[in-house]
Amino acid sequence: MEYKYAKEQQDYSDYASGKVFYSISGHPAFPVRLASEIFQRCMAHRQAIYQTTSPCVLYDPCCGAAYHLSVLAFLHRQLIQTVIASDVDEKAVSLAEKNLSLLNRTGLESRIDEIKSMLEQYGKDSHKEALKSATTLKTKLSGDLLTTKTFQANVLDKADLLKKLSPHSVDFVFTDVPYGQHSDWHGSDVANPLWSMLDSLLEVLSPSSIVAVVSDKGQKAMHEGYQRIEQFQVGKRRIIILQPI
Ligand SMILES: C[S@@+](CC[C@H](N)C(=O)[O-])C[C@H]1O[C@@H](n2cnc3c(N)ncnc32)[C@H](O)[C@@H]1O
Repeated sequence: MEYKYAKEQQDYSDYASGKVFYSISGHPAFPVRLASEIFQRCMAHRQAIYQTTSPCVLYDPCCGAAYHLSVLAFLHRQLIQTVIASDVDEKAVSLAEKNLSLLNRTGLESRIDEIKSMLEQYGKDSHKEALKSATTLKTKLSGDLLTTKTFQANVLDKADLLKKLSPHSVDFVFTDVPYGQHSDWHGSDVANPLWSMLDSLLEVLSPSSIVAVVSDKGQKAMHEGYQRIEQFQVGKRRIIILQPI
């Protein structure tokens, strides 16, 4: 896959998972450059299809620690109005909430205080580095408050999702669904979880929406309510970009 937008490999070390952003132990972090590339491709599709550049409501229904959402909100703040994160797992949701809190000044300042107190207590180089990165991230925060929302929901259960999210309220779904040895689909024994997820999402998508699904090759993000705009492969990850029809 050729990078069209995130053309150069930048230094993303301030965004490293487990440094300032909280991580789920044993879960590999989503690559920042790839997240930025997918985001920008989707924004370009949204503009071309719907002629809109208005800041989007970004949602991940399988958010884990909401790591890629949080990083995207730093990198592309001007294109995002609201960040919504949900997961079936209660622990993931509470970590996602902590990461999304870092997108606003108060949350980042309390993370800085937390890192400072770890540095005082343990004096580790990793804490020094984390403090440096957190201070750099603070300079990148804009003055405007970013709206964030987190909740627990099974995305395979449409009724459950609709209890938490208003119909037609989401402009851009960017989700890294369960695959591989690190996470499994939970909460249902449906035959095709990706179809069921896409089916639930149809209810919450706005009239100018785009959906990006990252999965392994073994799963097919197909549903009769969507048209495929683009598909590409990066390592073991398959990325499919869809437009509801
Ligand atoms: C690959 S991980 C996401 C990692 C995330 N992108 C990150 O950066 O931290 C997939 C997530 O899907 C969640 N999940 C599994 N089944 C689900 C379901 N039925 N509804 C919602 N989330 C689900 C898992 O709990 C896990 O957190």
